[in-house]
Amino acid sequence: MERDWLPKAKEWYFACKTQDVPAGGVRRVHVYDQEILLTNLDGDFYAMEPWCPHNMAPLEFGHVDRSACVVCPEHAMKIDVKTGENVCGPYGSSGAKFEPNWTFPARVENGRVYVRVKSDDEIEDYYRNFEIPFKATDA
Ligand code: FES
Repeated sequence: MERDWLPKAKEWYFACKTQDVPAGGVRRVHVYDQEILLTNLDGDFYAMEPWCPHNMAPLEFGHVDRSACVVCPEHAMKIDVKTGENVCGPYGSSGAKFEPNWTFPARVENGRVYVRVKSDDEIEDYYRNFEIPFKATDA
């Protein structure tokens, strides 16, 4: 179904005011049609997907540690807020690797945070190349 009422191109959208995310904290926002986790590192804002890749825990209930990683509230996986890479797995395991969280460009202008959301084409490309870890049976 064609969604004419939503723009298809990559664009910047207002996410929240800078004061809505405390320094060293996180906040989940809904921008355009996408869920985004914003992190405030001393006035620099970063944006990524708000779910933990291990078991989809909501990262807005986690906290940001000294290495600029959000720590998952469920099993303590650490995800770099700048790159979306997980730097340690669940329960502090070093070997576990998961798909990195998607990151979004973010910028601040006049006390407001803007995020450049993904276009429909980017989302389609991502899922086209996504490796599904299971197969339908040939029954
Ligand atoms: S759900 Fe996040 S580490 Fe398990």
